Amino acid sequence: MPFIQWSPSFSVGNAVLDADHRKLIDILNQIYDAWTENNCTVELGRLFDELMDYTDGHFSREESKLLSRDYADLARHHAAHERLRELVHAFRSRHLAGQQADTLTEEMAKFLKSWLLDHILEEDMKYRSLFTGR
Ligand SMILES: [Fe+2]
Ligand SMILES: [Fe+2]
Repeated sequence: MPFIQWSPSFSVGNAVLDADHRKLIDILNQIYDAWTENNCTVELGRLFDELMDYTDGHFSREESKLLSRDYADLARHHAAHERLRELVHAFRSRHLAGQQADTLTEEMAKFLKSWLLDHILEEDMKYRSLFTGR
């Protein structure tokens, strides 16, 4: 069982954005596996680079789709994305700065799980009706 298991209940009503979310979950699962198997900072650093790159691409794809549909809450949504970016950046520099990564604690795993998932389930879900019409 992967660390985070995709569920149809995560769908935001748009195939491209769902595919992005699945890819981000996949990278988070890889981070979790790499971290629990061996805490090699080189490998974890590479995965965090990939996570942050893909996150940037996803946020801009999502925001441009919301803009083209005149999403009323776009400014606040954009601010939430900026905050997520900062959070993962701070998490990375806190735990991967040394020669070896910090030991992955339950609290850190919880952060990795909720970092994206809470945003999808709370904030992204609010725009779902723009795509589904209901
Ligand atoms: Fe999203
Ligand atoms: Fe979002």
